Order: sequence, then C-alpha cells, then structure tokens
Amino acid sequence: MENLKLNRLEFGNPSNKGNVLPMEEAMGLLTDWVKNERLIVHMRQVGHLMRAFAEHKGYTPEVQYRWFLAGLLHDADWDQWPEKHCKKIIEELESRNVCPEIIRAIASHGPKYFGVEPQTEMDKMLYAFDELSGLIHAYSLMRPEGYEGMEVKGVKKRLKDKSFAAQVSREDIADACQRAAIPLDDLIQFVISHQGSALD
Ligand SMILES: [Fe+2]
Ligand SMILES: [Fe+2]
Repeated sequence: MENLKLNRLEFGNPSNKGNVLPMEEAMGLLTDWVKNERLIVHMRQVGHLMRAFAEHKGYTPEVQYRWFLAGLLHDADWDQWPEKHCKKIIEELESRNVCPEIIRAIASHGPKYFGVEPQTEMDKMLYAFDELSGLIHAYSLMRPEGYEGMEVKGVKKRLKDKSFAAQVSREDIADACQRAAIPLDDLIQFVISHQGSALD
C-alpha cells in the first residue's frame, strides 16, 4: 500500500470547535464523492454505531451528532482517491471549518497507516468500530436471519477463521479493543445490538 502517513498531529482550527456539517450537507458530500454503495453502507453503519455509543454514554445530542459525523465521513475519500485516503477528507473538512475533534477522530482511524495515535474516546471508538463493523456486517449477510439472533460466539468464530472477510484486519481489531479498554465481547455485543437498525 502507498504511504498514507499524514505527517502531522494537529487537525482543524480550535476556533471551529463544535462546528458540524448539517445532515443534508454531509449526505451531499457522501453522494458526490462515493459511488460504491457498499462503502456508503459501511460509513452509515459506523456513523450509527458512533452515535449509539455516544448516546449510551449519556452525551448530549450535539455531541452524539459529532460522533455520528466522524463515523459517517471517515472513509469518504476512499472510493475515488485511495492513494490520498484520509488526507483528502481531512482537508475538505478543514476547508469547511468543521470541529477539530471530528477531524482528529477521522485522522486517527488507522494509526498504522496514517501515523496518528487515537487519543480521545471518540478517536478510540471510531478505530474500534471500523473493522469490527465490517466483519459483523459480512456475517449478517451470510445468515438467513441477518442480525436476528446473532450471538457473540458466532462472531468470534468468524473472527478466528482468517479466510472469512479476509480483508478485515484481526490485528487492528485486537489493537483497537485494547486501546478502547473495552472487552472484545462487549464491543461485539454492542455492534450486534445496534448495527441491524443502522439503515432503517
Ligand atoms: Fe479507512
Ligand atoms: Fe472504514
């Protein structure tokens, strides 16, 4: 893979704290940039998980929406500019004066690739949900009942089977889970419980 290192550790302008893109604008950016339907599904699912987690923590609706946006937009540049993945969306959100916390979370969603360590809770949860969400979604697609009745142990079996959703990095999942300091089983259960309704 090309070098995707961002080579910087500061993102956005502190004076933009709290600024968000309204829903229509965020969805407009997605549909302009992303033609791959599966990638749109992935980003909507991660956005939904992020919002659900912030809600579960009792954060305000404003904070929940910031978490949602980080998830919704984290891979927006992957479809058309894979060689500029992360850099392009970061610059776009900076030019649109988006809250630095959101931009930072996106910048740290792959520490190995972008060279930015997840620091805040939002950073860590985006990293943790990203790969896990994809694997669990792939699992739901092969089950006739989808998410219905899905169990943690079924997901863990797929996690051990390296040929299942082979592109999903097991190493990243383990690393993210450790950084988030949440037991893997709890994280899996959270995704199972919330992801099924992500696209309703
Ligand atoms: Fe990504
Ligand atoms: Fe992703």
